[in-house]
Amino acid sequence: MSKVVNYEVENNIAVITIDSPPVNAMGYLVRQGTWDAIEQFEKDTAATAAVLICAGRTFIAGADISEFNAPPKDPWLPDLVQRIEDCPKVIVAAIHGTALGGGLETAMACHYRCAVASAKVGLPEVTLGLLSGASGTQRLPRLTGVKKALDMMISGKPISAAEAKESGVIDEIIEGDLREGALAYAASLLKENSSVRQLSKMDVDKEGINDEFFNDYRQQMQKQTRGFFAPEQIVKCAEAAVSKSYEDALKVERDLFTECRESTHSQAQRHLFFAEREVAKITDVPKDTPKRDINSVAVIGAGTMGGGITMNFLAIGLPVTLLEVSQEGLERGLAIIRKNYEGMVKKGRMNEDQLEETMALIKPTTSYADLSEADLVIEAVFENMAVKKEVFAELDKVCKQGAILASNTSSLDLNEIAEVTARPEDVIGLHFFAPANVMRLLEIVRGAKTARDVIATTMAMAKAIRKIGVLVGVCFGFVGNRMFFPYVREAQLMLLEGVSAERIDKVAFDWGMAMGPNSVVDLSGLDVFNKLNSEWADRPDDPAYYRVCSVLCEMERYGQKTGRGMYIYEGRKAVADEEVSEIAAREAKALGIEAREVSDEEIMERMMCAMINEGALVLEEGIAQRSSDIDVVFANGYGMPRFRGGPMIYADTLGLDNVYQAINKYRERYGDLYWTPAPLLEQLAKEGKTFSEWKK
Ligand code: 3HC
Repeated sequence: MSKVVNYEVENNIAVITIDSPPVNAMGYLVRQGTWDAIEQFEKDTAATAAVLICAGRTFIAGADISEFNAPPKDPWLPDLVQRIEDCPKVIVAAIHGTALGGGLETAMACHYRCAVASAKVGLPEVTLGLLSGASGTQRLPRLTGVKKALDMMISGKPISAAEAKESGVIDEIIEGDLREGALAYAASLLKENSSVRQLSKMDVDKEGINDEFFNDYRQQMQKQTRGFFAPEQIVKCAEAAVSKSYEDALKVERDLFTECRESTHSQAQRHLFFAEREVAKITDVPKDTPKRDINSVAVIGAGTMGGGITMNFLAIGLPVTLLEVSQEGLERGLAIIRKNYEGMVKKGRMNEDQLEETMALIKPTTSYADLSEADLVIEAVFENMAVKKEVFAELDKVCKQGAILASNTSSLDLNEIAEVTARPEDVIGLHFFAPANVMRLLEIVRGAKTARDVIATTMAMAKAIRKIGVLVGVCFGFVGNRMFFPYVREAQLMLLEGVSAERIDKVAFDWGMAMGPNSVVDLSGLDVFNKLNSEWADRPDDPAYYRVCSVLCEMERYGQKTGRGMYIYEGRKAVADEEVSEIAAREAKALGIEAREVSDEEIMERMMCAMINEGALVLEEGIAQRSSDIDVVFANGYGMPRFRGGPMIYADTLGLDNVYQAINKYRERYGDLYWTPAPLLEQLAKEGKTFSEWKK
């Protein structure tokens, strides 16, 4: 038997222990080891029941996701779970940590299930563009009923042990030591002469489950699952569970699982799973780099951004000194934070006492002297170099030695800011995305002199406040905005070619984006785009560049905040505005740009190719560590659908040669200014390679 699965017998009960760190994923060795252990148990006359348990931090966390890119290797999981269920002697699954995906499927193949109170169980395959392909879609409805099973499979969210007990997923909650408790539970089952209980032989409760139920369910999940392939396949499996025999429904599950696994959606989502873990690995900042203690935080600026940033730290119980220059501004900021919490109280997500306790963690101030003891100071003032420099000069005077001084700049040169202090090694960029208390992305900007322990500390802090920290280098717009600007640039240029704002947005939305580029511009503010562009030293020398945006700004049409921008707003509803098309046509005429027919394909191709080409430059210049880090930025901060995986893996999926050719096509039509292929893209395309393969 392989070493990852251990077999022993204690008081005539076999204990099969899976020990495959870090998360006991069901890779080939674990599957083979478990198979062998079940066989040994079957033959072992000294053992009358078995407990299947895991060592380390968790029960089986699922199939080994890294194996999905290769052909399956025997014994594969569907056969193994059937092998477990077919065992004629009782097997009890003993769960701690998280039993997820193939882990829960293995547990459901066992005849009984017990868990510690802190355990969680779930079928999160949908988050990987998959469905539960080892009988999960068939066994779970037999335990919980169809509705609950669908809710678990479509959301992918794990449920607590208490909820699992209530819904029939587990039989027993163990207080105290799991191994001991599971052995006692198995002994009690033997004493009661409990027989093997095979879910595959049980019926699904069909009460109230008909075509109408499934149609309603599809309608209800539409908003949450828009564009994704797997959710519909999961519903089909649930339908099969109701309408077919277990064996026939299992065949449906198998076929649909294979379709999902081979889809570009799943490949993209699996890519993001690993990318979001890889992103924490920094070549010259190893895991054991010492970290500074962060026990108190200060935020400068109580505007929307500063308030949102503050809320992140309050959420984990850290006190925040909130500084604003005027008492009036401070009170306004505090009122906005309070209003946000009141909204949560209304939704039942916190109570009045918690609201007051949370607000009490804020120490409001108008004096820089009050920042002297903060471990981390985050500046979130107006995006202007002179103002930021003033703030950092002041921080250098008042902050204690060793404090981390962070700027929330979204585009400015961090090195220039750091140089006004006598401690540039303590200065770092923390670029939060609005709304800062909601968005998961945090660009962590490494200055030329930023110390390694400052990077290690802020990366760990990002995780603590439940953000995904992505380390980026200094340049205009860092990774996200630098690549997003060319994407919007193309949308703006297409307006001049006679394509309406709403059509561009519809194409982007249908492609999967959370919203189209023109809606994003309205949401962020046209004035913000205008200001950033005007401060950009290398702004393209082209009168057509962001022309419509500039003209609308001159008319004080700043977007949602003024009720007019690329659209007109009736409340929050965007209404197309003929005047924008007229303005675009007028400006185009002045610039000598002719209207042309632009296909839906071209709309998306131009915007994405512009973004990808910039991404290749970002990679080459070392602004991002690896191409998958860029994908993490776009999946978590720019509303790019997870089933596309991010711009760089999307480019890999298209084939870099195809991207290169498309860029050359636009170069021929529009010239070199925007369409000179990045040297790295050209090189990889010619070598037939991908961004994912490339290492600097
Ligand atoms: N396969 C392969 N590797 C996995 C894995 C899996 N199922 N789950 C986690 N890992 C790896 C991670 O990549 C990471 O590797 P690294 O240290 O080299 O970066 C390491 O295990 C630790 O993972 P986390 O950093 O995520 O650890 P956490 O403690 O934060 O979270 C967890 C633990 C909740 C188990 C989380 O890892 C997780 O959600 N895992 C995936 C669960 C899942 O999606 N299961 C379904 C798999 S598909 C399936 O089962 C198909 C079946 O139906 C046929």
